[in-house]
Amino acid sequence: MKYPIVKPFLPVLNDYTAHIETIFARCWLTNNGPCLQQLEQQLAEYFNVEHLLLVANGTLALQVAFAALNIDTHKKNNVLTTPFSFAATASSLCFAGITPEFIDIDPNTYNIDITKASTMQLNQASAIVGVHVFGNPCDVNAIEQVAKQHNLKVIYDAAHAFASNLNGESVLRYGDAATLSLHATKLFHSVEGGAIIFKHKADYLKAKQLINFGFDAQQHPEFVGINAKMSEMHAAMGLSVFKGLPHITAQRRALAARYAERLAAIAGVQLQQWHDSGENNGAYMPVLLNSEAVLVQVQKALTECGVQTRRYFYPSLSLVPAYGMQGSTPIANNISERILCLPMYTDLTLGGVDEICECLITALKQAS
Ligand SMILES: Cc1ncc(COP(=O)(O)O)c(C=O)c1O
Repeated sequence: MKYPIVKPFLPVLNDYTAHIETIFARCWLTNNGPCLQQLEQQLAEYFNVEHLLLVANGTLALQVAFAALNIDTHKKNNVLTTPFSFAATASSLCFAGITPEFIDIDPNTYNIDITKASTMQLNQASAIVGVHVFGNPCDVNAIEQVAKQHNLKVIYDAAHAFASNLNGESVLRYGDAATLSLHATKLFHSVEGGAIIFKHKADYLKAKQLINFGFDAQQHPEFVGINAKMSEMHAAMGLSVFKGLPHITAQRRALAARYAERLAAIAGVQLQQWHDSGENNGAYMPVLLNSEAVLVQVQKALTECGVQTRRYFYPSLSLVPAYGMQGSTPIANNISERILCLPMYTDLTLGGVDEICECLITALKQAS
């Protein structure tokens, strides 16, 4: 495919091998090693946060956050969340024995619209799990207000929100916890990896124990934990990619701006409305089309042009029997049927964006 949907960013190979040589020299491969500690410190400084924990992936980041905040053992077993997200948002809840109660989304931002939660749904819940979808910050003020009124914990699945800012600060600063995915396809990555940012030190300390089997300082299991540690090889990749961050973020913002410029006035294409006080981080490039029938035709035509696209996120998680199908979410269900993500990765060029947009415009004309 000339234009894949994503392409992992590869750092300078010598940077990576230099880290690997130090790891070999130390023979310290995992368990809170020096590369991991350095990456935790660099990321905490980058986000201007205090309590950041690296973990093995973004799904475990969610599960550990739920356990650290006692969501999994809370007597109210429901959590309010969005159906417009990746499977892991709902599956991590179900895996922990928590019932996802799906709340509909805003039709323009695609984020959870917490004002749609009924009093009964709020009364039966212990927490809200919002997702900054495609990196677009949720309405954090509305969520915080509702959470305060109903004594709910707030966790943000911020898997897409690396380098996404709100009022000039990282959006990861919001919520009792925010989780990142550092998967190879993400804006910033460590091949596989994840991170949790906690508001409170006590939750962070509990999570640090949780990711290491629940061991206390004497290596005795104090409570039920899991192995969610990040290895030194993964942390080394994170350190090497970190050096490329200025280029990655500048390039992705430029690509997002170019897509917006080319597609803003095209009939039959609706672009995601970004938070007024945020800045598009260029993590993804979703376009909303007029119908599923048009989407199917456009996707086929783009494939024939060498442009890979992805129905991201489809289906709506509230329609997946395995996730319990709790809550009525007509807007999310409809948007899931009509949304298509276009190629977005650091190596993509502005000329590439122009070519992809030309293919899309031609495909739309043929489809209508
Ligand atoms: C919204 C969201 N949450 C969680 C995850 C899970 O992250 P990981 O693949 O690192 O486990 C992803 C992965 O793409 C995601 O998109």
